[in-house]
Amino acid sequence: MDIKARLKRTLILCVIGLVIGTGIGFYQMNNAEQTRGAASGIAGVKIGGPFSLVNQNGESVTEKNFAGQYKLIYFGFTYCPAICPTELQKITRVLKTLEKDNPKLAANIAPIFITVDPERDTPEVLKDYITQFHPKLVGLTGSVEQIEDAKKKYRIFAAKVQEEGMSDYTMDHSSFIYFIGPDDNVLGVYRMDDTAQMMVADMLSNLPK
Ligand code: NI
Repeated sequence: MDIKARLKRTLILCVIGLVIGTGIGFYQMNNAEQTRGAASGIAGVKIGGPFSLVNQNGESVTEKNFAGQYKLIYFGFTYCPAICPTELQKITRVLKTLEKDNPKLAANIAPIFITVDPERDTPEVLKDYITQFHPKLVGLTGSVEQIEDAKKKYRIFAAKVQEEGMSDYTMDHSSFIYFIGPDDNVLGVYRMDDTAQMMVADMLSNLPK
């Protein structure tokens, strides 16, 4: 198959994955809504928690490295042809808007990209990839087990898809941007159809009082 046909197929698979992911995600979203606010244990579904991963410089990183900070967290993979780059560009736009309108908040937000494809997304691959987006963006990878653990905690669905005639696999994965507060509460969950503008407005309205 030529590269164009392959890209097209990968894109289609990515979209199929997104539809599946969105279905699962819708369920998660409802739970995330319930998770909002102080009583995060009541709904029974907690999003987030401790993790142990490796950053783009090959250094071990845990949630403690981001203690006291707001976080924008997105799970994806660098080979994703369309959806992941779009969402990472959105995070970049959100941060650039906040840098103008609310620099204090912007300075205290850590944008984090966590791969669902640790076998191909090594620290080197991530390091190269994230330069396309906001300079503060942190890329996290790890062992398959470490990534599985993080995916589970953040309720992320992701699976390899190997299509006949394709030498490379692609990934089905859910697509959410999580806005997490300094106390690790989920303050917002954003989907593909939320614009950067909508995100900024929602983030500002959900800041802890
Ligand atoms: Ni993707």
